[in-house]
This record gives sequence, structure tokens and C-alpha cells, in this order.
Amino acid sequence: MKRRPCTKATKNIGHSAAIMLVGFMFVGLAYSQVQTIRYDSTLKSSAVCLHKDIGALYDDCCMPQDSLAPQRALIERQCTMITNGHFFMPFCHPTVDKYDFTAADRIADFAREKKLRMRGHTLLWHEQIPGWLTNVKRPRAQSRSLVKDHITTVVSHYKGRMDCWDVVNEAVDDNGQMRNSEFAALLGQSYIADAFTWAHEADSAALLFYNDCYIEEINQKSDSVYALLKGLRTRGVPVHGVGFQCHLAVGQPVDFESIRKNIDRFAALGLIVHFTEVDIRIKLPVSPEKVRLQETLYKRLARVFADSPSCRAIVFWGFADRHSWIDRTIHGYGSACLFDKVYQPKSAFNVFTDEISSACRAQSEVERRGLKPDWK
Ligand code: XIL
Repeated sequence: MKRRPCTKATKNIGHSAAIMLVGFMFVGLAYSQVQTIRYDSTLKSSAVCLHKDIGALYDDCCMPQDSLAPQRALIERQCTMITNGHFFMPFCHPTVDKYDFTAADRIADFAREKKLRMRGHTLLWHEQIPGWLTNVKRPRAQSRSLVKDHITTVVSHYKGRMDCWDVVNEAVDDNGQMRNSEFAALLGQSYIADAFTWAHEADSAALLFYNDCYIEEINQKSDSVYALLKGLRTRGVPVHGVGFQCHLAVGQPVDFESIRKNIDRFAALGLIVHFTEVDIRIKLPVSPEKVRLQETLYKRLARVFADSPSCRAIVFWGFADRHSWIDRTIHGYGSACLFDKVYQPKSAFNVFTDEISSACRAQSEVERRGLKPDWK
């Protein structure tokens, strides 16, 4: 059968139809792309795009088993990094001659399985000091060698698996004085430099942090930490970063410009900065107004994180309110996290994510135009 020849008219209709079809396909494709991007706009994708880490505390202990799966799913979807306190001295070194890495290894295994970077929290902290170290009176040299053995054993155990260690936590008190801790009493204040040196000897690839609270802004305490770290750096002690814990509260003013300047001054010492324990608590009961204020704080923190080249990671101290230490520890406060008690995102999560992904789009544009990004 002879094929019907195309007349000019049918040819035109054919062209128009083809153009329309291509148009529809293009719009459809673009729409599905937008859908994909929307669907994929996680903290993790923004972290990758910003070449930074976004992480959370993974709490797998002392919680009902039904809390594990939703938490793991959230972390897997949203994070590039995790942390956990199973590395506290009494947990992984319960008696003087016995180490127990069972709980900490579970975290390390999860990190490896999900290709997450790990922050080890923390080698030395005055609030987590085991009885075997303090209950027996020993000559200083002996206490020193026990602490050296602890650091060497723990850091060696995770060598090649631990990206960062909080080597010393909260060694400065809230008035900016060197804390009169049991570590200081047993070993002298030189324990700080020693701890970094021993950790570096055990794993020269791990980034070693000094971590503390209320040092986000430039203030009396952060001045002291700055002086401490400057002294250590000057003496060649291997300290690579400073952790700002960032336990913030709605109703307490935060000077974000001061946080930026503070990051910059630590960076000028050659240090990187991590926001290590982020949460923003609300005095109960929660009200719409307090929620708005919390959103603003999360948004502004996101912006400082995204904009500051030396701020390389932000880690939430629990993703969901169900796991927050605030509810357990700071009486009358709660609702500090980005997800609620049943793991649903709160408005603060949306605001935080929007801010991070908008920073990411701006960053991608810089890279697309071939400009050298300032983090390189
Ligand atoms: C909290 C933990 O979340 C609790 O599980 C623990 O029992 C007590 O400490 N600064 C720190 C963290 O460095 O280790 C603390 O975490 C919160 C304050």
C-alpha cells in the first residue's frame, strides 16, 4: 500500500506536533528534575556540595530498641558524619587493666557501613574520669603513664577509622581560668599538650581538636581558649582544630558577627573549626513565638557555617528530641533538635535546610563560573 504523501499542511502539523512533544518532554523532564532536586535536597547533599560535613550524635544506648531504626534512617539520609560518647574514658576503659570497645565499635562499624566520617568524643573530660585513675594515690609519673597508655590504646584501636578526635574537652572554666580538674591535679596543666602529642603519635592522620562550651563568640572564655591554643601551636603541639559546642538557647542573645570573627581568629592560628554539639533549647512550654525565634537562630547559624571557609563541620547533639540530653539534663527546657520526638522534621529543620541549600546553590554557581572557591 502506497504511503499517503505529506502535504505541506500535514508537514506543518507534524512539525508543530513534534515541537510540542519535545516541549512537553522538556518541561516534563525539567519538572521531574525539580522534583528530584526537591526530593534530594537533604543536609547530606548540601554538605557534599559545600565540601563540608554535617553530622549528628548517634545514640544507640539506653534507648528502646524501636528508636534505632528511625534514627539510623535519618542519619543515613541526612549525614556525612557521626559522633558518640561511647569513647568516654570510663566507658571504653572501665578498669585499670581492661579496655572494652564493644559499644564504641558498634558506632565505628555503623560509620564504616554507611561511609560516614567519625568524630571521637572525647579522650579526656573532667566529667568522665574513671575511678581507677582517681581513687588510688600514685606518683605523678605513674598517673601520667596510665593516661598515656589510655590515649595510645584508644587512638590506636581506631587508627585509620577515626577522622577527628576531641582530645581534650572543657579544660577551661566558664570564667576563663584553666579548670582545676582532677586531670590538672593528677598530671599538672601540661596534660593538655601531652594528650595531643600522645594522640598524634598513635594516629598521625586524625585531626585533633580542643572542644569547649560557650566559646562560640569572642568573650572572656574564648579569649582564654584562644591563648591556650595559640601557645600550643607556637610550641608545635599537634592541635588541628577547635570545637565550638554551640548549645544555644532561645531567649539568650547570640552575636553571629562575633562568631564569624571568632572563627576567623582561630583560623588565623592555622586551626579549623567544627560546630560540635549543636542544639537550641526552648524554655517550656513551647510557643509559636519561641519556635520562630528558634528558627531564626538555626537559620543564622546555618549561614555562618556555610559562609565561613574554616568552619568545616556542623554536628547536631542529637537529631531528634527523643534523644536530646536537654530534656534529661536541663530542667524545664526541651524541643532543642531539628526533628521531634517521633522523628518528624520541625520547622527549624526546613529553615535550616533551606538556608544551607541556598548557600550551596550560590557555591555551585561560583564553581560553575570557574571562580576559585575560597575553601580551596
Ligand atoms: C552529654 C551526653 O549527651 C550525655 O549522654 C552524657 O551523659 C552527658 O553529657 N558537653 C559535652 C557532651 O561535651 O559530652 C555532653 O553530652 C553535653 C555537654
